[in-house]
Amino acid sequence: MNNSHNVETNAPRLFDADIAAQVEKLLERMSLEEKIGQLTQIGGISGFVPGPEPEEIVRRGGAGSVLWLNDPKRFNALQKIAVEESPSKIPLLFALDVIHGYRTIFPTPLAMAASWDPDVPERAQAIAAREARAAGIHWTFAPMIDIARDARWGRIVEGAGEDPYLGAAMAAAQVRGFQGESLGAPDRMLACAKHFAGYGAADGGRDYDPVYLPETLLRNVYFPPFQAALKAGVGTFMSAYMDLNNVPASANRWLLHDVLREEWGFEGFVVSDAFAVANLVTQGFAYNARDAALRALRAGLNMDMASATYLQHGAELVRSGAIAEADIDALVRPILAIKIRMGLFENPYVDESRLEEILSRPEHREEARRAAQRCMVLLRNEGNLLPLSKSLQNVAVIGPVADSMEALEGPWLVFGHQPAAVTILQGIREKLPHAHVTHASGPEIRRDYPSPFDALMETFSGAPRPAPQTPEEAEAAFQAAVETARNADVVIMALGETANMSGEAASRASLDLPGRQEELLKAVVALGKPVALVLVNGRPLSINWAAEHVPAILEAWHPGSEGGRAVADVLFGDVNPGGKLPVTFPRAGSHEPLYYARNITHAPEGSRMYSARYWDGPPTPLFPFGYGLSYTTFAFDNLTVNKPEIKVGEVAIVTVNVTNTGSVAGDEVVQLYIHQRAGSDSRPMRELKGFKRVTLEPGETKTVTFHLGPDELGYWSTSAGEWVQDAATFDLWAGGDSQASLHAELRVME
Ligand code: BGC
Repeated sequence: MNNSHNVETNAPRLFDADIAAQVEKLLERMSLEEKIGQLTQIGGISGFVPGPEPEEIVRRGGAGSVLWLNDPKRFNALQKIAVEESPSKIPLLFALDVIHGYRTIFPTPLAMAASWDPDVPERAQAIAAREARAAGIHWTFAPMIDIARDARWGRIVEGAGEDPYLGAAMAAAQVRGFQGESLGAPDRMLACAKHFAGYGAADGGRDYDPVYLPETLLRNVYFPPFQAALKAGVGTFMSAYMDLNNVPASANRWLLHDVLREEWGFEGFVVSDAFAVANLVTQGFAYNARDAALRALRAGLNMDMASATYLQHGAELVRSGAIAEADIDALVRPILAIKIRMGLFENPYVDESRLEEILSRPEHREEARRAAQRCMVLLRNEGNLLPLSKSLQNVAVIGPVADSMEALEGPWLVFGHQPAAVTILQGIREKLPHAHVTHASGPEIRRDYPSPFDALMETFSGAPRPAPQTPEEAEAAFQAAVETARNADVVIMALGETANMSGEAASRASLDLPGRQEELLKAVVALGKPVALVLVNGRPLSINWAAEHVPAILEAWHPGSEGGRAVADVLFGDVNPGGKLPVTFPRAGSHEPLYYARNITHAPEGSRMYSARYWDGPPTPLFPFGYGLSYTTFAFDNLTVNKPEIKVGEVAIVTVNVTNTGSVAGDEVVQLYIHQRAGSDSRPMRELKGFKRVTLEPGETKTVTFHLGPDELGYWSTSAGEWVQDAATFDLWAGGDSQASLHAELRVME
């Protein structure tokens, strides 16, 4: 096997003869300065970055793309300058982070991964694209497809969690959603696979910290979602901020050239992360800005986001002979080709009259509600407390995220977005129109250190954030919440994290419920009423106490604009939850990274030595990867392989039956895990290699089929230094989570 395992060149080609000819024609008439301009992306907000106004840079052909702008009128005005006044009249590409919705906000990407249904992110991102495109945005910096195995890392919320197989499925689905059938499809936008690569493995989960990843982890774990995005036709990649094995990703020729271009055959273009080219100096890698530009260009980084380092030094680097103009041309070509494919030369402007109609389409909101329903994970339901009865008369809804539109929508919304979510409180009130539904938020929750982005937004909006509660105010809020709960028959606690507690620059050391939330939860549970806990959060939380003492726990994540309605749908039984965890829930932040696909040690699970891993508590997850309950129950049986033995290179067909053994219809996610017993390298104790979410009526059985061939059974081997498929015996397990016990065996022979 060779290194390009898993990437067939069936990804749609960017260049054909016609596109190539058009690109050459454009290149011929462009000056060197204009070529460097195409490699430059500038911030669209006046005064955000020092230097000339965006209009002035665009007029002289000094920018190929503009970001951080969300204003159709301004887009059209800038575009007019580009296509009428700039020397070669090349249209601009407008870019913005449209991560999980533009106006209609969908669950966060981590939440969407919990649906284990790639249709959910595909449909969500198609709507996000339609709305954003109507606003004049051509290009989104999404999907973020970094594998994250450390929930302390704040950006875990932006990706699909810990697993490369699930992550690859979600990555491809998002690309299909954003881009549609092909680049330039109407109402779709250009996608960007980010952050290439390894960003999620930041030391200690501290955002931006260096990453040390051996090739086995890069190729077997961190690359697969990027390869899946590429296969799905993603037009652009974004390089990551951090040092990867001591070479910053943005100047890492091995990553950007050897792997991405040579091995995988990527034809699109790579943009740096914001200011990353200039940061090569800050990071202690480049000697100065000129050297930073040179090394990023040589590494194959096409576009400099926001740092203007290419703009300042690119032309001189060519004139001095440090880099050949032919190399610059090679970097410009895919940018021009994408602009042609996107139809920007024919249609550079956005029709401002369509925007409001598109943003107000009710079907977008309906899809957001459906998506949120499918993302929720039922973590506990002792005594079948849930679903609650709709004839309840007296319900208290308690907690700092219960009536917060911001918390429901979560992090990473577009500039200028005004939160407009249906909150949990509102959703419950709508569901129980005749009941007495009371509310108290309890003490507020805040980051200990403010987010740098909040500070930025304060500067732009001119609206300072409210002062923190005093300890006395917090105590009064605590007591009021307990009193409110005391007067109710049933209490719904909505606890978790605010939107700014996860995302970029939002890592945390502890995974406990922030602030006094657990204390409040204990005080409310002590009242002896039935309590259901709804979690609103961007990452796994170590809710150890709740997992033992609160009968019902529903993981709602940051569920988006319709989140409150979706929570009520699930709590009151109109929807049976069927989501599963896309990431392990550890018992403490200090246990991270904790993920299911670890290798077996000499003291495996079940052995006497195993529990000595920590002497101060069990090393096992609080909730395992793939876990989630339902209002019904499921049984698995008849796990069979069509042949007990296959040859290397052949495909085995695996089937398993799943039956709804309860009394209501429900969804189960059938998961297939493998383990290779011995071979060229040690392999993880379990690896997900197939999944399917199915709906079953009570008593119904379905047979689910999976394929295990070289793509699933092969891997990149450290010993061999290449992709291998070993002749080996495999354990197979199928079931409803990563601890499934239904077992079969498959032998792979030479
Ligand atoms: C983030 C990227 C984002 C870019 C542009 C950076 O700070 O790391 O994910 O796309 O900003 O907004």
